[in-house]
Amino acid sequence: MGQDTFYVTTPIYYVNDKPHIGHAYTTILADVLSRYHRLLGDPTFFLTGTDEHGQKVQKAAVANKMTPQEQCDTTVTRFQELWKKLEITHDDFIRTTEDRHKNVVRTILQDLYDRGEVYKAEYSGHYCTPCERFFSKKDLVDEKLCPDCKRPTDEIIESNYFFKMGKYQSWLIDHIQSHPEFIQPDFRRNETLGFLRKPLEDLCISRPKKRLAWGIELPFDKEYVCYVWFDALINYITGIGYGQDAAKFAKWWPASYHLIGKDILTTHTVYWPTMLKAMGIEQPKTIYAHGWWLIGSDKMSKSTGNAVNPIDVAEKYGVDAFRYFLMSEMSLGNDASFSEEIFITRYNSNLANDLGNLLSRVVKMIAKEAGGIIPAPVESAQTEYEKELRETVLSAVFEMEPAITGMKLDRGLEQIMNAIRAANRYMEQTAPWKLAKEKNTDRLSTVLYTAAESLRIISGLLYPVMPGKMCEIRKAIGLPETGMEIFELKTWGKLSPGLKVSDIGSLFPRIEVSKDDASKSAKSAETVAVAAEDIIVIDDFSRIKLKTAKVLEAEKVEGADKLLRLQIDVGGQKRQLVAGIALFYKPEEVVGRTIIIVANLKPAKIRGIESCGMLLAAKDGKTLKLITVDGGEFPSGASVG
Ligand code: ME8
Ligand code: MG
Repeated sequence: MGQDTFYVTTPIYYVNDKPHIGHAYTTILADVLSRYHRLLGDPTFFLTGTDEHGQKVQKAAVANKMTPQEQCDTTVTRFQELWKKLEITHDDFIRTTEDRHKNVVRTILQDLYDRGEVYKAEYSGHYCTPCERFFSKKDLVDEKLCPDCKRPTDEIIESNYFFKMGKYQSWLIDHIQSHPEFIQPDFRRNETLGFLRKPLEDLCISRPKKRLAWGIELPFDKEYVCYVWFDALINYITGIGYGQDAAKFAKWWPASYHLIGKDILTTHTVYWPTMLKAMGIEQPKTIYAHGWWLIGSDKMSKSTGNAVNPIDVAEKYGVDAFRYFLMSEMSLGNDASFSEEIFITRYNSNLANDLGNLLSRVVKMIAKEAGGIIPAPVESAQTEYEKELRETVLSAVFEMEPAITGMKLDRGLEQIMNAIRAANRYMEQTAPWKLAKEKNTDRLSTVLYTAAESLRIISGLLYPVMPGKMCEIRKAIGLPETGMEIFELKTWGKLSPGLKVSDIGSLFPRIEVSKDDASKSAKSAETVAVAAEDIIVIDDFSRIKLKTAKVLEAEKVEGADKLLRLQIDVGGQKRQLVAGIALFYKPEEVVGRTIIIVANLKPAKIRGIESCGMLLAAKDGKTLKLITVDGGEFPSGASVG
C-alpha cells in the first residue's frame, strides 16, 4: 500500500427522482474509501455523477411537464446538494448530457461501427420499460414477466443496431476465472459465471427515435439514439479524460473499484467488460457489488415508494452519525435493514455511550484534575493497564488497513469500537478520580495522557467516516485539524503534553425514544404475553451478535462422545468452535452447512480446546436440530436478527 493510484467510481444515478439511502450508501462508501486511501498517501480519484438519458428520464420529464434537459437540470442539483451535505469529496461529477461525454461516446460508436463490432439487424424481443432492457423469451418469468423486476414486458419488433457481445463470451469467462479479484464478492462472481453458462447474445445498443428520442444520436444513423446503458457505462472513462486527455486517462485507468449495487451486476460484469474489450481498453481491477438496503424484507427503491430520504435522517441525527451508521451496519456484500429503531440503537450504543462518553469523561477529568492541560506520562508509573490499552488501540490501527483494502469496512469499524470500549474500561479500572484523591500525581498524569492519546488515534482512525465530529474531538484535546496521516496513527505517543483541552459539550447526545414509542412497545409486549421479568429491550438483544457461518471441517473430540470440533468460516474469518452435537450429527453431516452462531461470545476452553462462539440448535427432549439458513447458498458472516 501507499503510492498506488486509487480510482473509485459509483454508479451514475438516474435523474428521474430524488436520491434515497441506497444512493447515499454507495456514494458514502466511495467517499470513505477515498478518504482512507488519501490518508494512506495514495493518489486518489473519486468519480460520481448522473445518468441523464433514456426512457426513465424522458418519462419523468413528461410526468413533470418539462423537457428532458430541464428534468436533468433540476434533478441533478438534488444529488449535488446531497453530496455536499454529506461531505462527499468526489474529484469530479460527470453528467452524461455534457459534451465531454457525448462527443467521446459518438467517437467510440463510430469506431466500433467502422470496425464491424456494431451491425444492423431486425430484432424481436421482450422489453422491460422500467429496467430498460430487452430479454429473449426464454429469459422471461412465466413467459411474460421481466426476470429482474418481475413486471410485465412488451414484445417489440424493430430494426436496431447490435454490438457483437456474444463473440466475447469465452474470453470473458476466461478473464473472470483468471482474475479472481475482478468480480467481488466471490458469490457475485459465481452469479455472473452462472449467467454466462447460457449462450451470450449480442447487445441491442440503439433505440429508434420514434420510440425514444432522449439519448445520444448514433453518428452513423440519425434515426436512432444510443441505448442508455451503452452510453452510461462509458462515463467511467470519459470522466477521467479518455479521448480528451491521454495523460490523465493513463494516470487513473484501470479503475481500482467500480462500486455498484447488486441490481446492476450484469451490465457491469458482462456488458462493460466486453465493451472495453472491443474498444481495446484494459479491464478495471475490481467490480464490487454491495447488497441492498431493505425496508422490512423489500428493497428500498423509488419504484416501490418505500424510499427513505437521506437528508431527513442526516438532518435529524447528524451527517456523521448517518455516515457511521451506513458504514457499520452493512457488512459489505450482504443486505442490511434500515429502520429508525436500528439506527437509534446503534447510535446510542456506539456513538453516545461508547465514543461520546469516552470523550466527555477524558476531557472533564483533565479539566478538573490537571488544570485543563494534557499532562506528561511518567515512565515509572506505567502499568499493565497502559500496555493493554496501547496494544488494543494500535491493533485497531493495524487492522484498519487490511479492512480497507479487503473491503471489510464494518469489521475495521468494529475493531475501533473495541478500542473505544477498552478505553472506557481503562478509565474505570484505573479510576483517575481516586488517583487524584490519593494525590498519586505520577499515575494520574500517566492515565490522563494515555486516555487522551487513545482519543487522538481513535479520532484519526474514524476521521474518514465521521470527518466533522472527529475534527471536534481533535479540537477538544487541543489538536489542529490536520496531521491525521496514517503513520502518525501507527506511532503511540505523538500527542504533545501541554496541549489545552476544551469542553465541547456532548458530542453525540443520547437519543431518547419518546414515551409514545415506549408505551407502544410495552403494549405489543403485553399482547404477546411475555412474562414481565423476561422482557428485554432491543438494546439487550442487539448486544448479541448472531451471524451465519459455514462449516468447513468437523471432527469428533477424542474422549468426549458428545462433542464435535468444527472449523467454520464467518465472512472470510476462520474460527474454531466446539459443539455438543455429536450424538445427533456425524461430522460429515454438518460440513458445508450454513449455521447460525453467537459470534461475540467470550471464547472458552472446552476440554482444553478453544471454542470461539456458540452454534444455535433447537432441542426438544431427545432430539436436536441445527438452526440453519432457509433455501440454498447464503453468504457466511451475515448478521441474523
Ligand atoms: O442503476 N440499497 O441508477 P439508479 C443499496 N443509472 N443501494 C442502492 C439501493 C438499495 N436499496 N437502491 C439503489 C442506475 N442503490 C444506473 C446506473 S452506472 C453506469 C448506471 C444504489 O439511480 C446502488 O449503488 O437506479 C445501485 O446500484 C444504484 O443506486 C442504482 O441507481
Ligand atoms: Mg435502479
